[in-house]
Amino acid sequence: MNSLDLLRSVPDLADHEVRRLLAAASGRHWTELLLGVELTTGEVEAFRALVEKRRAGEPLQYIEGVVPFGPIEVAVDRRVLIPRPETEQLFELACDAVEAPQVIVDLCTGSGNLALALKHTFRTAAVYATDLSADAIDVARYNAAEAGLDVTFLEGDLFEPLPEHLRGRVDLIVSNPPYIAESEVPDLPADVRDHEPHMALVAGPAGDEVLRRIAADAPGWLKPGGTIICEISEFHAPEVAGHFADLDGAIEMDLSGKERFVIGVAPR
Ligand SMILES: C[S@@+](CC[C@H](N)C(=O)[O-])C[C@H]1O[C@@H](n2cnc3c(N)ncnc32)[C@H](O)[C@@H]1O
Repeated sequence: MNSLDLLRSVPDLADHEVRRLLAAASGRHWTELLLGVELTTGEVEAFRALVEKRRAGEPLQYIEGVVPFGPIEVAVDRRVLIPRPETEQLFELACDAVEAPQVIVDLCTGSGNLALALKHTFRTAAVYATDLSADAIDVARYNAAEAGLDVTFLEGDLFEPLPEHLRGRVDLIVSNPPYIAESEVPDLPADVRDHEPHMALVAGPAGDEVLRRIAADAPGWLKPGGTIICEISEFHAPEVAGHFADLDGAIEMDLSGKERFVIGVAPR
């Protein structure tokens, strides 16, 4: 079957999604598919199977299995959150905030996207990353091996698995923690609510529970003048800024003008 006919045969999905699904199913670049090529029966069947997954609400990124993030790419599946553009902005803020960091910590690492992008950028830094989910740590370690980047991934609760000798020595802490309140879950888009890990999204009844704990413990791990940058919910910015008051906390906007990040600097 010709690729152009196949692309036109799924009018209920967006054109760009259909192109990406056919590229994923066939292993061919979408520019080749738009020129019109003959596809094998196997390619057509694989495409139809992916279309059914997408129709059932599976996020496109899980179907494709890989997501670009800053200077790297990470593999993603149902065990980890799909990295978002806002978190790429967090990565850029972090790069601008520090110069030649020696020790970097990423809390709630998921696929390892932030930790690996930072290690790619700051090659001589020792980078540690933690996550409560053993599944997420498996994905992050796979991504590190694929990228050839040396990051220490540790399973456990926030700072708890970090080696004690890092206390007071960390130049940069980053985190995109769970920050959704339980009451906000019904308002999430269905593909997020039904497919991404609950543990990655929901912090507790109020939504700021994990950020509150990060803010309480961060001063003990940062070195004097060290920086912490966390992604936050635009609905909880005033409370979260209050949690970070000891670290001279400031709120930054994302590209759509929402209060999305808290930045704190440890006293010198
Ligand atoms: C919003 S996802 C962020 C994933 C990734 N950093 C990103 O930016 O795409 C939050 C992650 O925090 C992890 N997590 C939830 N509670 C945690 C805790 N108490 N300690 C460590 N990790 C936790 C979840 O398993 C999930 O992988």
